[in-house]
Amino acid sequence: MNRELPKDFLWGGAIAAHQAEGAWNIDGRGPSIADVMTAGGNGIPRKITKGVVEGEYYPNHEAIDFYHRYKEDIQLFKELGLKCLRTSISWSRIFPTGQEETPNEQGLKFYDDLFDECLKNGIEPVVTLSHFEIPYAIYEDFGGFANKAVIPLFVKFAQCVFDRYKDKVTYWMTFNEINNQADGQEPVHVWTNSAMIIEDDQDKEALVFQAGVNELIASAWAVNEGKKINPDFQIGCMMAYVPIYPYSCAPEDMIASVKANERRFFYSDVHVRGEIPTYTEKYWEQKGLTIEISEKERQILRQGTVDYIGFSYYMSGTITTLPDVEGRQTEDIPSAKLVKNPYITASDWGWPIDPVGLRYVLNTVYQRYDLPLFIVENGFGAYDQLTDSNEIHDDYRINYLREHIEQMKKAVVEDGVPLIGYTPWGIIDIVSFGSGEMEKRYGMIYVDKDNTGNGTLQRLKKDSFAWYQQVIETNGEQL
Ligand code: BG6
Repeated sequence: MNRELPKDFLWGGAIAAHQAEGAWNIDGRGPSIADVMTAGGNGIPRKITKGVVEGEYYPNHEAIDFYHRYKEDIQLFKELGLKCLRTSISWSRIFPTGQEETPNEQGLKFYDDLFDECLKNGIEPVVTLSHFEIPYAIYEDFGGFANKAVIPLFVKFAQCVFDRYKDKVTYWMTFNEINNQADGQEPVHVWTNSAMIIEDDQDKEALVFQAGVNELIASAWAVNEGKKINPDFQIGCMMAYVPIYPYSCAPEDMIASVKANERRFFYSDVHVRGEIPTYTEKYWEQKGLTIEISEKERQILRQGTVDYIGFSYYMSGTITTLPDVEGRQTEDIPSAKLVKNPYITASDWGWPIDPVGLRYVLNTVYQRYDLPLFIVENGFGAYDQLTDSNEIHDDYRINYLREHIEQMKKAVVEDGVPLIGYTPWGIIDIVSFGSGEMEKRYGMIYVDKDNTGNGTLQRLKKDSFAWYQQVIETNGEQL
């Protein structure tokens, strides 16, 4: 039995444009939905402001200034041995309001230079089209993705960048973590997935489903157009897989788990199978939700199924119908609630740490879809301490990554799951999406900047840098 990862396994690192680039209003770029999100904190939600308000601090405006420093950062990525870099294209750098007839050449040129620099250094760009950075004007002018007028705007953007980078990029993904909005409970997810703010008197569930369906149509349409531009493109979806375990073996807990997972699987079920699942049609019927989807759009869904499944994995969740179990209430599943899993620990931000869950996800998702998988995010957000000699001893991060890679290897070599690659999240410290903090750090490269925006932006190698270098060098043999 082959006990090794494939020779062409894509070891890499992941970032997203809005969390790294900065240069939010430079070279013709329009504001995106990330540019009106203030800094929150650990346990403090970010505010979404009406436009950019003077006196507020917006951490994404400068981020880590990757826009001006990418050459220096790519040298570090090369030294690390990365074979690929996952990033996204900022939509509003290309179409500042999403509605222009012609793209912004300076924006296109930036990604030409960035991808060329990667390729020159032996690093393959892996690109997400929409990673929480929809042009702000799409919210202002259309109210976000629940409006069908936004679908062709996304497709125009996709066609434009597919065409421009057809010889530089092979692996694409359409919508980052499209299923974050699944239960519609966190305003930040509805905002970042769909550029929507839902008022109390609106039907939240219907709007979130409508936006999701419209994004799935836009994604399928884009896949179709992409294949016309370059039939060798590999175009995937991007899901946040947070498996929801049953807390007990009570049959009701099993059903609660199935139902909770369905809510999240809905998105990849459509991406992969090109059909709205029966369980969703039934749900819409029972809840009396009217979701608009024409026959022509159903046809588009069938014609634009994805080639692979990109996904993030950070944690698992646990659900129960039993009374008196510690946890937070959720409206997600009637009469069931998400609770603490007594067998696993959590990070300083309360994110459950469950490496075996990664093997579980790899197996269950492959069994469900029979398509290649790509782990495009996994990592440990933690507080790092700089020593007097500017070192960062992040053994906690190494442990987290090691334990996850061990489980990933088991899934590949023992269980036979086809896996394209592994790109740990925030390979270099960037702005946290959820909290807006800089000090929730994921990187193997430290960036000198704090939560209030102070710092020199100097880059430093953490202990995890040398560790990951050796992991890549040995193709995952030495962990
Ligand atoms: C995923 C996103 O949700 O998790 C990233 O795709 C994000 O954009 C990452 O940064 C980690 O989340 P956070 O909130 O810790 O930055």
